[in-house]
Amino acid sequence: MRGHSILIASWALVVSIILNGGLLCSGCFLEEKHALLDFKASLNVTTNAHLILSSWTGKEGDGANADCCTWEGVKCSNITGRIVEADLSFLRENMDEDWYVNINISTFIPLKDLRTLDLSNNYFNSEVTGCRNWAKLQNLKSLYLDWNNFNNSSIIPCITAITELKRLSLRDLDLKGSFPIEEFKRLEKLEFLDLSGNQLSGSLSFKELKLESLKVLNLEYTNFNKLSDVEALTSLKALSLNDIGINDSSVLQGICSLKNLHELDLSRNNFYGPVPMCFRNLTSLRLLDLSNNILSGNIPAALITPLVHLEYLSLSGNLFGGSFSFSSLGNHSKLQGFKLGPLNNDSHVDTEDLALPPPFQLKALYLSGCNLNNQTRKIPSFLLYQKEMQNLDLSSNKLVGQIPTWLLQNNTNLEVLVLKDNSFTGPFLVDDSLGKYLSQLDISNNDVSGKVPQNIGLSFPFLQRLNLSGNSFLQWGTLPLTSLFEMSN
Ligand SMILES: *[C@@H]1O[C@H](CO)[C@@H](O)[C@H](O)[C@H]1NC(C)=O
Ligand SMILES: *[C@@H]1O[C@H](CO)[C@@H](O)[C@H](O)[C@H]1NC(C)=O
Ligand SMILES: *[C@@H]1O[C@H](CO)[C@@H](O)[C@H](O)[C@H]1NC(C)=O
Ligand SMILES: *[C@@H]1O[C@H](CO)[C@@H](O)[C@H](O)[C@H]1NC(C)=O
Ligand SMILES: *[C@@H]1O[C@H](CO)[C@@H](O)[C@H](O)[C@H]1NC(C)=O
Ligand SMILES: *[C@@H]1O[C@H](CO)[C@@H](O)[C@H](O)[C@H]1NC(C)=O
Ligand SMILES: *[C@@H]1O[C@H](CO)[C@@H](O)[C@H](O)[C@H]1NC(C)=O
Ligand SMILES: *[C@@H]1O[C@H](CO)[C@@H](O)[C@H](O)[C@H]1NC(C)=O
Ligand SMILES: *[C@@H]1O[C@H](CO)[C@@H](O)[C@H](O)[C@H]1NC(C)=O
Ligand SMILES: *[C@@H]1O[C@H](CO)[C@@H](O)[C@H](O)[C@H]1NC(C)=O
Ligand SMILES: *[C@@H]1O[C@H](CO)[C@@H](O)[C@H](O)[C@H]1NC(C)=O
Ligand SMILES: *[C@@H]1O[C@H](CO)[C@@H](O)[C@H](O)[C@H]1NC(C)=O
Repeated sequence: MRGHSILIASWALVVSIILNGGLLCSGCFLEEKHALLDFKASLNVTTNAHLILSSWTGKEGDGANADCCTWEGVKCSNITGRIVEADLSFLRENMDEDWYVNINISTFIPLKDLRTLDLSNNYFNSEVTGCRNWAKLQNLKSLYLDWNNFNNSSIIPCITAITELKRLSLRDLDLKGSFPIEEFKRLEKLEFLDLSGNQLSGSLSFKELKLESLKVLNLEYTNFNKLSDVEALTSLKALSLNDIGINDSSVLQGICSLKNLHELDLSRNNFYGPVPMCFRNLTSLRLLDLSNNILSGNIPAALITPLVHLEYLSLSGNLFGGSFSFSSLGNHSKLQGFKLGPLNNDSHVDTEDLALPPPFQLKALYLSGCNLNNQTRKIPSFLLYQKEMQNLDLSSNKLVGQIPTWLLQNNTNLEVLVLKDNSFTGPFLVDDSLGKYLSQLDISNNDVSGKVPQNIGLSFPFLQRLNLSGNSFLQWGTLPLTSLFEMSN
């Protein structure tokens, strides 16, 4: 069967070469090569031209660069020999000057098998000529135009004429105005859509769009003031509505019926009131970010408990109150990041009910202002079992005991340790090469005494921010300046 299909494939290759005039020159079709050279010529490069697409050369018969399938950013099909992918992103390393360019889409028309075109991250300030010709790129499945300045939204109808598109990324294109619903109705096959960072506004109804195959939708940093019928996006796996400023609780209700969701980012909006209990049903969630809203009520332990696939959960920056026990996380074996707090001052968080050893190895934990273990004011015992921590913030909790330097011993990758505004006492002792990756250490506003460790620069060679203020350290004068200079690398 396999031999048979290879036979058919090579026959198809021969036929296509004949039909195309037999111009398979050194492994690459001549008309495709000329198309790429036309595109290169259309880039309005005045300075350092030799640094851009330097492997794309016009000379023939000079061996190495004649085969355009070997050019940077170009991929050909090993069956048809035609170009299937053109990655023309990040063309210029040095983006300090504006780049005025006429993107001439017509230059890509000869690339008949082009599936993927990536023009992202070029900061083109551009007119787009040959706009109507986008429709001729009918094999194109993936188009990435992020981080350019095509602020004239008239580009949209040209793009949506490519009705076979599955992946479309238009992040930070400086698009303005209301969302062109009628145009997007044509893209029924879309699986991935990124419109983030554009100033698109007005209301957007997902019932009107036919996006039943859509798996990933990113609308963060847009200006929509109403989103409706989210439940129509039945295939959705990842949704980001970060920082849109919406507060409509019907969006939350709609999200509840998206049972396949793996990632949900609702941070930096104005959602208020309790988190709807129907979130319990989103049992596939791996990432849930509800931070920085105006959500209130008790910390929603009852809906966290069943979401055992969570890898990252953030509830911080809301108005939650009540009590929370880490035993609610007793089955969260995949958890890597957890953020909660600050909480109302009549709330508290208990970590000691969690059975040890805990099921998870955390990389990031943020429990600032959580009135942690208010009975004992002890640092959470489960931390004794963590060894992959990179980022830890236990500030503003009235914790007592010695500065837990064992955290640095156990977690050799620790980068940020914030223990400020607690009641830690005793001396602060560090070993040499204790925190080789530590960049931020804040133990300000505690009752730490004794000497400032002389070897601090040796222990933390990459330290960038150190705050020891508001303690009872003796002999500041002994902190060797050389030690600090060593830290500033
Ligand atoms: C093309 O060749 C590459 C590298 O040899 C291989 O990984 C890939 O599977 C091939 N693709 C097809 C469609 O045969
Ligand atoms: C080429 O860039 C220069 C500035 O670098 C600009 O003045 C000119 O209009 C550009 N030409 C085109 C065709 O965009
Ligand atoms: C765009 O490219 C096509 C094909 O290379 C060419 O025929 C046409 O003149 C170009 N248009 C502009 C405005 O440069
Ligand atoms: C679009 O971008 C161009 C180039 O940056 C700029 O000159 C023009 O003012 C912008 N137009 C709008 C409507 O923002
Ligand atoms: C946007 O592009 C269209 C088509 O190229 C042109 O007719 C229109 O004048 C442009 N609008 C602005 C504001 O530049
Ligand atoms: C929700 O947002 C709308 C539009 O911004 C605003 O008018 C309304 O007051 C907000 N409602 C609440 C309860 O914050
Ligand atoms: C969860 O989904 C089921 C149906 O799948 C539904 O009957 C139930 O009401 C939902 N639970 C909540 C809390 O919405
Ligand atoms: C963890 O799962 C087990 C088995 O499903 C269950 O008996 C137990 O109650 C769960 N623990 C928590 C804290 O939900
Ligand atoms: C909570 O904070 C308010 C305002 O700072 C204060 O008046 C109140 O006494 C505090 N309550 C508790 C239980 O600490
Ligand atoms: C801990 O906080 C809870 C809830 O605010 C309170 O009932 C309890 O008395 C507090 N315990 C101590 C020792 O402060
Ligand atoms: C962490 O440090 C403590 C105190 O030195 C020690 O008892 C514990 O076994 C260490 N844990 C790990 C995982 O290394
Ligand atoms: C150091 O900590 C104190 C107390 O927390 C704070 O007021 C101060 O701004 C901090 N200094 C720096 C440079 O962050």
